[in-house]
Amino acid sequence: MRILVTGGAGFIASHVVDRYIEKGHSVAVLDDLSTGNRENVNPKATLFECSLLDDQLEAVFKEFKPEVVSHHAAQVNVRRSVDEPAFDAQVNVLGSIQLFEAARKSECRKVIYASSGGACYGEPEDLPAPEETLVRPLCPYGVSKGTAEVYLEFYGRLYGLPYTILRYANVYGPRQDPHGEAGVVAIFSEMMIRGQRPSIFGDGSKTRDYVYVEDIAEANVLALEKGDGGVYNVGAGRQITDDEIFNAIRDALGAEMTPIYTDFRTGEVRHICLDASRIRRDLGWSAKTPLEEGIPKAVKFYQEKLARSRPASGE
Ligand SMILES: NC(=O)c1ccc[n+]([C@@H]2O[C@H](COP(=O)([O-])OP(=O)(O)OC[C@H]3O[C@@H](n4cnc5c(N)ncnc54)[C@H](O)[C@@H]3O)[C@@H](O)[C@H]2O)c1
Repeated sequence: MRILVTGGAGFIASHVVDRYIEKGHSVAVLDDLSTGNRENVNPKATLFECSLLDDQLEAVFKEFKPEVVSHHAAQVNVRRSVDEPAFDAQVNVLGSIQLFEAARKSECRKVIYASSGGACYGEPEDLPAPEETLVRPLCPYGVSKGTAEVYLEFYGRLYGLPYTILRYANVYGPRQDPHGEAGVVAIFSEMMIRGQRPSIFGDGSKTRDYVYVEDIAEANVLALEKGDGGVYNVGAGRQITDDEIFNAIRDALGAEMTPIYTDFRTGEVRHICLDASRIRRDLGWSAKTPLEEGIPKAVKFYQEKLARSRPASGE
């Protein structure tokens, strides 16, 4: 299958690209490298260095002729979305519309869209939150991710463009940028490796649903064949506290450290956890990697990354 992966130089989508290539698909990456990194792009994939907002977008479709588009490119920085909501909407809403337009005018037969359960649902009353939970974001990033979903559903209705929407929980694993959405594992790991004490906003009891990036890549493989017209939560369905995640990283590093507790940040979700029973039923997906296995793999990546960036002694 010919698959165009937008954002494929970034954290999550670079793992999706790797899995697609392992499965024997022909893959191209469309990425403007604004937060992504050329080194993340699998050498077997063709890289189109291009923005979603570029006029060249249709030319990329004409040249590569994707059968499936996996849409991961986005402005993912929650703080930036608060400071610059128009920029956030430009990339995540207008950029997505440009992409859906190019897809529907081409031979493309499906769009898979990476959305965000955590950012779209805000602070739901019932946990784990099912897909029927109202979209009530607490930040512009959640609004823009949810708005692109509505556009994609509209393209499905009006033009018959098949799609699957995957609403991710907090994704973690190798290659994560500490500045993106849900970068806590990357932030804590890098700080602790440097011997710095990380800050936890609040008393350590906030909870998130952490899912390992390779499990997310597997959901993207299954969505190639299944889930047309569906919206799916993709999470482990477990509430993990800030303290638990801190301790898991500290233990993986064998470090002795305590966090610094600071005030809760306004607008931040206190508790979120996704009900993933629909994707289990329709796609046969479930989170396979427990935290005890995923955290040491992520931590090892940051140890190696920081060791590479340190000049060797004596130079
Ligand atoms: N990280 C998470 O926990 C999480 C959770 C839910 C949803 N998501 C979604 O998953 C997707 C990937 O997120 P990530 O964490 O890997 O972030 P990331 O920043 O690592 O990846 C985003 C990629 O998009 C590229 N990009 C940004 N603007 C672009 C543009 N205008 N044109 C082309 N490329 C552009 C960046 O260069 C980068 O490579 C995003 O759509 C995000 O909303 C992430």
